[in-house]
Amino acid sequence: MRQTAMTDKTDIKGLTTLRLKNTPRDIEKAAELIRRGQVVGIPTETVYGLGADALDPLAVSRIFKAKNRPMDNPLIVHIYSLEQADELAREIPELFYTLAEKFWPGPLTMIVPKSDRVPLETSGGLDTVGIRMPSHAVMRQLIKLSVPIAAPSANRSGYPSPTTEQHVYDDMKGRIAAVIDGGECRFGVESTVISFESEDTVRILRPGSVTRSMLSQYAGVIVDDAILHDLEQGRTAPSPGMKYKHYSPRAEVRIVEGSMDSFIRYTNSMYGDDVYCLIFDDDDPRELRCRYMTYGSTDVQQAHELFARLRELDDKNAATVYVRSPQSTGVGLAVYNRLLRAAAFQVIKA
Ligand code: TXA
Ligand code: MG
Repeated sequence: MRQTAMTDKTDIKGLTTLRLKNTPRDIEKAAELIRRGQVVGIPTETVYGLGADALDPLAVSRIFKAKNRPMDNPLIVHIYSLEQADELAREIPELFYTLAEKFWPGPLTMIVPKSDRVPLETSGGLDTVGIRMPSHAVMRQLIKLSVPIAAPSANRSGYPSPTTEQHVYDDMKGRIAAVIDGGECRFGVESTVISFESEDTVRILRPGSVTRSMLSQYAGVIVDDAILHDLEQGRTAPSPGMKYKHYSPRAEVRIVEGSMDSFIRYTNSMYGDDVYCLIFDDDDPRELRCRYMTYGSTDVQQAHELFARLRELDDKNAATVYVRSPQSTGVGLAVYNRLLRAAAFQVIKA
């Protein structure tokens, strides 16, 4: 007798990816897919995510497959109410609640010891879990109608995070059950990730739109070394995401430090057909020889535009992109951190 192999009926190849809208009916449809263990592209205020039931190991394994993500890189669990945090975590420090009150719903992820309810698949084998309460209305409604949702950014592993529904569709078409359009993401860079160093001190593992100075109104703040430097040889990453190549378009990215005058001098000497510059909105481009695009002026605008620009530069087949170096203060720390990784830490002092 021929044996029928047990196959996962939702093998990721060849799925038809539904494109859902921001309507009550479509949000319910997306919630239904998530309740049934499927993966859905979801809008948040930071970047788009690939969401699935955080408490179902099979559902979570589909996220890793869709993204080609290393299994030891943990997922953030998104919640709707503080009661859900109490179910997901084993011990919650007082400071967690203080920060939740100040910054949730919003772009802050807090790492705490996980409860047994969170499968090891979700936590990448760690005994901690990153928890975030997002503010995007569609995402909040989705969680309310379903379950706590595990979601990494919805890009192919290593590629810039998606900030529009179209980006998600481009990366994940045929690999996920649906994507829901919640418009352009408000912040454009992923959430700030913190762990608790002591009763009154937190450590920033990934900078985001909740900045160091915002956090320091309520706690001592340590900025982890790996934010601005390549992980030291032999040091275990406090956050597994730190050790993987990240946010890179196909083009080679180089950060250029110095004034606009020295930027112009340097990039003019590197001129080529497929060489591009990424400068600020308020830079004067008239002396530039290379083609250019801009990514905002203020730190908040730069965060909002960076990932979309990196994708557009790939669409233009840029081979090399020289980027004006952002200020690394405020949200600029997040922008600089993402650029450093996109550039594989190659910084030119012009
Ligand atoms: O804004 C965001 O955080 C987005 C949206 C979708 O919410 N999500 C996101 O997820 O950026 P992801 O997986 O792309 O990045 C999460 C980062 C990874 O670097 C991961 O290693 C780290 O957070 N992380 C998650 N859980 C952790 C844990 N328990 N301990 C240490 N690091 C953790
Ligand atoms: Mg990511």
